Amino acid sequence: MKVAERRAVNGVNNDGDMRSTRSQSAENARRAGFDGLELHAQGSHLIPQFLNPRLNQRTDAYGGSSEKRAQFLLDVLDAVSDVWGSDRIGVKMSPGWASGSAFTADEETRADYDQLLKKLNDNNLAYLHLLGAPGTVEERVALFSRYRAHYQGGIIANLGFTQALGNEILEHRIVDAVSFGAPFIANPDLVERFAQGHPLAEGDRDAYYAGQAEGYTDYPAFTATDHTDRASHQTTEIPVSSNIRAMIANVEVESLEDAIPLYRELAGDVDVRRFPYRELEVALVGPFLLYAGPLEKYVSQTATVLVDSLDPVLDALGKAGAEILEAPNEVPNGTRIVARHPDGSVFEYMRPRS
Ligand SMILES: Cc1cc2nc3c(=O)[nH]c(=O)nc-3n(C[C@H](O)[C@H](O)[C@H](O)COP(=O)(O)O)c2cc1C
Repeated sequence: MKVAERRAVNGVNNDGDMRSTRSQSAENARRAGFDGLELHAQGSHLIPQFLNPRLNQRTDAYGGSSEKRAQFLLDVLDAVSDVWGSDRIGVKMSPGWASGSAFTADEETRADYDQLLKKLNDNNLAYLHLLGAPGTVEERVALFSRYRAHYQGGIIANLGFTQALGNEILEHRIVDAVSFGAPFIANPDLVERFAQGHPLAEGDRDAYYAGQAEGYTDYPAFTATDHTDRASHQTTEIPVSSNIRAMIANVEVESLEDAIPLYRELAGDVDVRRFPYRELEVALVGPFLLYAGPLEKYVSQTATVLVDSLDPVLDALGKAGAEILEAPNEVPNGTRIVARHPDGSVFEYMRPRS
C-alpha cells in the first residue's frame, strides 16, 4: 500500500482484540513452560507501525502524537505483564529501522524513541533488546550511548555483531549483553565455537525465511575434521582419533601486526586473543597460534592437537611409527605428548586441564 492510499484505521474493538490476543499468547507461553516473553516491537511489524508517524494515521487514542502512538505498545505491555510480571518480559525494538518509503528513520522518529525509552524505565522490564546499525565499534558505541542515556535498565545490543565487536562494546560498559541472530543459524553451537576460538560456518541467505529446514535448522555442529581441513597446510599424518577436540597450527611469524589480518582471512571472522609467553608474542587466531620472537627456544612442534584422552593417541602414534620425544608429562596447561612423525613434523598432543 502506498502512503497516499493509507487511511486511518480507528476502532477500540480492533485494538482491544489485538491486546487480548497478546495476553492470550502470553498465557499460552506461560502454560507451555517458557521462562519469559519478548515483545516483538521491531522491524516493520505491527507495533513499530503504530509507533511510526508516517504509517500511523489514526485520530483516536493511538494516533496523532508521539505519546499516543507509543500508547499501543504500553497497553500491550500492561496486558502481557498481567500474565507474567514485567520482570519476565523483554521488549525488542529497532529505533533506526528503515524499510521502504514510509519506514524511514529521521530526527522525529529518533526523538520519539528517545521518549519511549525514557518511559520504559517505569516498567521494570527484564531487558530492552535493541537493534543498532552496522558499523565500527566507535559508531556502535555512539549509537548505544544515546539509548543508554535514556534507559537505565538492562540493554541487549543486536545487529551485525561479531564476537570481537561484541566483546569490545561490552568493554565500554554501555550495554549489558550482545545478541546474535543469523550466526546461530549456520552455527548451532555458536557459543562453544566462540569459547574455543573455532571458525564460523557461513549461512545460506537464500534459505532464510524459506519456511523449510534445509539451510535453516540443519547445520551441523563443529567437528575436529573442519578444523584439520582449515589448517591442512600445516598437518601431516595426524593419528586421527574420535577424541580430537581441536587442532591448533603453530606458526612462526615475523610480526603479529602483519600476520594477524592474513590469518583472520584464513580463519574467518574469529576472535583474536593476544598474550605474551616468555620472550614471545603470541596470538590465537581461530585454529592458528601465531608466534613472533625467538621461536626455536620455546616451540619446536608445528601443531598442538587438543584431545580428550592421550591413550588412543599413544596407540596411534606407535602404529604410525612416530618417535615419542616426550612421553605423557604434566605442563602448566595440561598433560602432553610430543612426537615426531615419520615425515619429520613434530606435534604436541595435549589433554587440556579442565
Ligand atoms: C532467518 C532469520 C529469521 C529471524 N526471525 C526472527 C524472529 O522470528 N524474531 C525476531 O525477533 N528476530 C528474528 N530475526 C532477527 C534476528 O533476531 C536479529 O535481530 C537479526 O538477525 C540481526 O542480528 P544478527 O546481525 O546477529 O543476525 C531473524 C533473523 C533471520 C536471519
